[in-house]
Amino acid sequence: MEKEYEEIKKKLKKYGQEHLESFYEALEGKDKELFLEQLKGIDFELIDSLYKNTKKDVGIKENVKIEPIDFMDKSKLSGDYKYYEDIGEKAIRAGKLAAVTMAGGQGTRLGHNGPKGTYDIGLDSHKSLFELLCDPLKQASKKYGVNIPWFIMTSKENNKQTIEFFKENKYFGYEKNIYFFIQGQLPMIDTEGKILVGENGFIKEAADGHGGVYESLVKSGMIKKMRELGIEWIFIGGVDNCLVKMVDPVLMGIAIDKKVSLAAKSVVKANPHEKVGAFCKKNGRPNVIEYSEITDDMAEAADKNGELLYGESHILCNLFNIDAVERMGSDPLPYHIAFKKATYIDKDGNKVVPTSPNAYKFEAFLFDAFGELDDMAVLRVKREEEFAPVKNAEGTDSPETARKLYNDFYKL
Ligand code: UD1
Repeated sequence: MEKEYEEIKKKLKKYGQEHLESFYEALEGKDKELFLEQLKGIDFELIDSLYKNTKKDVGIKENVKIEPIDFMDKSKLSGDYKYYEDIGEKAIRAGKLAAVTMAGGQGTRLGHNGPKGTYDIGLDSHKSLFELLCDPLKQASKKYGVNIPWFIMTSKENNKQTIEFFKENKYFGYEKNIYFFIQGQLPMIDTEGKILVGENGFIKEAADGHGGVYESLVKSGMIKKMRELGIEWIFIGGVDNCLVKMVDPVLMGIAIDKKVSLAAKSVVKANPHEKVGAFCKKNGRPNVIEYSEITDDMAEAADKNGELLYGESHILCNLFNIDAVERMGSDPLPYHIAFKKATYIDKDGNKVVPTSPNAYKFEAFLFDAFGELDDMAVLRVKREEEFAPVKNAEGTDSPETARKLYNDFYKL
């Protein structure tokens, strides 16, 4: 252990992180080993370059050409609807589909103390988000006569609680088909680029964003598991949309028929400035432009029929070919920077509770990988049928709006 620590010390010096030595040296036994494990897992070169990026300008780079992307409208497929549905249904019945739910987030914005998927949106049934997602999956499995495996991505922070929750709820009767895997993490740093130590005396780490899903699926062995099961298509969605349709033969039929590696759903933006990413082409390749990146002119631009040019919002409902996911899992994605409030222990051992943001957190976005694809299909669906996100405690995208959408859809 000492030898390993001597090696780490050299790195700490090289990257200006020597303040971590005193934290390590103050520990004993198992804790000391754990701290050393954390240190060994850090890519200091990466953290250094991420810190340097915090000093750079963000926004659209000048040499990036953004254009609208073509899409299909599910409600206007007429005769083709059945054609795609038949193709998709055949593949689903043949057991080629797996569902992945990204549930690494906590319900902090909702004021919920626990994994977001355990949140009760206040329906009469008091079902959690996890159960609301599991219900249609069970129905689809029955309808198509096949077990559709459900892979749930947790984070180190919420993995234990998530699994306990599923156990307590008897896996909603779907136990045989559920698999958990944990997403990656990155250390948080202060404005000087120093890695922070959290209240528990260990390095303060945060989930690496939903873009970490590809790498985690590969590293955790889940892709291998899927291949053993004969899976060819993977639906990846968020945990916070209680109307998410993880099994959709039409989407699947389109992906297969068009021979694309990704078929994604969109809904029309509620207004030009809605806080959602919009599908587009960047330098001729499929991509998503985030609401924080888009200019007002672009957000408001419309065609001759008054439809927004960048109005197809990305709702985290994406169906990938398994080969594409595996490829994406081996190519690192860029990290985006978030400036957050993070409680930490200073070098004198005092706990510091900040009142304003003080630390950088790094997150990869799933859609940054779309640019690697030659092409994708975008399928516009109806918001009231497929998109009821629960993000904020009140107002837009809150439990109240989601509840109404859910009840209206299921006519409860
Ligand atoms: C996201 C998208 C936005 C999209 C909107 C649709 C980004 C930057 N933006 O916004 O384009 O239109 O959703 O609802 O992502 N998650 C993890 N691990 C993480 C981070 C997130 O599993 O490290 C999961 C969450 O549990 C959730 C989903 O990813 O299921 C979305 O994450 P969230 O941070 O809520 O994204 P938004 O900012 O709302």
